[in-house]
Amino acid sequence: MTSPDPSPVDPALLAQMFTPDFVRDPYPVLDALRELVPAITEPVLGRTLLTRYGDVDTALKERSYSRDPHNAAADTLMARLRGSDEAPGTSILFMDPPDHTRLRGLVSKAFTPRAVEAIRPRIAEIANELLDAVEGQAEWDLIRAFAAPLPTVVIAEMLGVDPSRRAEFKAWSDELVKGLNPFISEEDAKLRDAAREALAAFFAAEIAKRRETPRDDLLSALVEAEDEGHRLTEAELIGTCTLLLVAGNVTTTDLIGNGMNALLRHRDQVALLAAEPDRIANAVEEMLRFDTPVVMTGRIVMADEVVGGCPVAKGHSLSPMLAAANHDPRLHHDPDRFDITRDDTDHVSFGGGIHYCLGAPLARAEAQEGIKVLLARFPHLDLAGEGERRLLPGFRGFVSLPVRA
Ligand code: HEM
Repeated sequence: MTSPDPSPVDPALLAQMFTPDFVRDPYPVLDALRELVPAITEPVLGRTLLTRYGDVDTALKERSYSRDPHNAAADTLMARLRGSDEAPGTSILFMDPPDHTRLRGLVSKAFTPRAVEAIRPRIAEIANELLDAVEGQAEWDLIRAFAAPLPTVVIAEMLGVDPSRRAEFKAWSDELVKGLNPFISEEDAKLRDAAREALAAFFAAEIAKRRETPRDDLLSALVEAEDEGHRLTEAELIGTCTLLLVAGNVTTTDLIGNGMNALLRHRDQVALLAAEPDRIANAVEEMLRFDTPVVMTGRIVMADEVVGGCPVAKGHSLSPMLAAANHDPRLHHDPDRFDITRDDTDHVSFGGGIHYCLGAPLARAEAQEGIKVLLARFPHLDLAGEGERRLLPGFRGFVSLPVRA
């Protein structure tokens, strides 16, 4: 192999990815990287970054790549995720075919777009119930009052969790999300493991109840899902319920938080959406593109190869940078402009290929219904401060975003 040309990327630019400035606004660094090179190896987390839409899309769809952290070489990003999924073979997010195909097929039989459409009116009701609590207040926190609880309450209801257990359910889910941090402290890792165990015990008891007496809920549908004689095992059921909760919690909160932050900074577009609420579906696609909730996903290369001009070894991690791809001027006209009327809203915010987000229809329905209700109830809603961004690498959202009615 000939040695590659010296990289045009200044290591100081890569180092900026680990600063608070990057958490506040990753786009200047991502834009610079994308225009310099198609791929660049980043040594701190141990992965090769892909930033152009075409390369990201191709990598997401590449069937030879793995998602199973057990295939990751030591000191690579995907190897760091081993701890977040210690029971192998239970989370489709970290699984390869043929197991991924079998399990995703079974889950898809229960978690259907029809089930999502059926809950749409309830999403609007839940949104209204949450907003009742802030009615009359001059200023409140959009994340704490609305964007954070909405997805947890919705998935809890879909699964059939008793409302009296919601607070615990949310607390366990928040601990598990912290567990996705590749820089997790020992203390947080312990809390994450305790939360995972508590949630597993909770779901095991709920599953036992559904086996005895099926109900009209997603948990019963998962217990009963069958394909060519296969059913989900107990461990797979617990892993799937946990994944549905964790994968859909912080991500949808961030879609609503980031999306409203962008919208409220563009008063002309708030007015347009208020006047023409049917624009909500396109507005949510633009929110997903413009301020991407999941900044990156991961893949493991399974043979020595060259990706975007970068030599990578078997077991190495790739980071398709979804946020960078979504602002690629090769695909989007004037990509840094937020415009709910644009027709080039194509994005990779839900990943792609066989791991394409299974919850995309639910996330869309929650954001569409939630934001519609929010703007109808508070037509003069405006930002009341900058808000505070969450420090969780790979995810982008707010821990708080003050608004005034
Ligand atoms: C705005 C909200 C959401 C975003 C931005 C998002 C994003 C993603 C991304 C980037 C992936 C990885 C795809 C890949 O690597 O190609 C993924 C996978 C997944 N998501 Fe979501 N997600 C969201 C909401 C949800 C919800 C609400 C649920 C379920 C309740 C969910 C369930 C899943 C599952 C089960 C997977 C694994 C799919 C597989 O590996 O086959 N997500 N999501």
